[in-house]
Amino acid sequence: MTLSLPALTPVEETLWITLTGRAFDSRQPDPILGDTMADALVRKTGYTNHKLRWTRASCVEVAQRAKKLDEVARRFIARHPDAIGIDLGAGLDTRALRIDTPPTVDWYDVDFPDVVAARRQLIPDRPHVHTIGADLTDPAWLQSLPADRPAMIVADGLMAFLAEADMISLLRRLTDHLRSGEIAFNVYNTFTVRAAKLAPSARFLVPLFKSAGFGSRDIVHWNPELTLIKEIMLVREPEVAQYPPALRLWTRLAALSTSLSRLGTVVAHYRF
Ligand SMILES: C[S@@+](CC[C@H](N)C(=O)[O-])C[C@H]1O[C@@H](n2cnc3c(N)ncnc32)[C@H](O)[C@@H]1O
Repeated sequence: MTLSLPALTPVEETLWITLTGRAFDSRQPDPILGDTMADALVRKTGYTNHKLRWTRASCVEVAQRAKKLDEVARRFIARHPDAIGIDLGAGLDTRALRIDTPPTVDWYDVDFPDVVAARRQLIPDRPHVHTIGADLTDPAWLQSLPADRPAMIVADGLMAFLAEADMISLLRRLTDHLRSGEIAFNVYNTFTVRAAKLAPSARFLVPLFKSAGFGSRDIVHWNPELTLIKEIMLVREPEVAQYPPALRLWTRLAALSTSLSRLGTVVAHYRF
């Protein structure tokens, strides 16, 4: 079948960054995530971008944070087989496939309508995995979700693209609509946002950032329904053993300090 993918906006196109990063990781002899579906999707679309020059050292962060979110979701679903899962700004990620959600779980991948149209062409249907094409800042999409089941919400690489007020409203709508659950996402702190301006490989992203950066603990001030379960600091996680030697050494040193660890990628995990 010939693919006829919709033209994507610059923000929508950021889905290729995470997808190609996970695909690159999957091609390594010792992958951190091993997302072979990401690789299959990149090959199927023939996507190439000269700005994305992945190396083993640069892809570990994307692969590792996806792995941490998968682990959180997998544990939640094991405890709540009647759960729903929601992936906010899912892009072309196939998390439900990676974590192999059981048929008792309904999983919802939410992204802009054109991204969802691309997903529908590229990713085979799977029972109990649904797509919702919507702008997350629009309150209406949430009404189609069951409110009375435990909910696992994840967002990978999304929050920098939401203005602070939109992120706060989205979190509030989620905790108002859903009875109980957990939410986990990677935090874009002010250091990450500033560092992106200086890194030649990430500078092209800066005009798309709507967030000035925030910390894991800011979220609980903005939404008292949320309790912080854990700040998962990637530099302190076991996958560091798989980093290339120079990065591993630097990371082990950074991990000795909590402040330095927080400057790296943090996956914040909350309950409500
Ligand atoms: C960096 S990509 C990450 C995609 C995916 N989570 C992954 O890990 O591959 C960010 C995604 O957020 C989506 N996004 C950003 N703002 C959004 C909004 N207001 N509503 C819906 N999706 C949004 C983009 O379309 C894009 O797919």
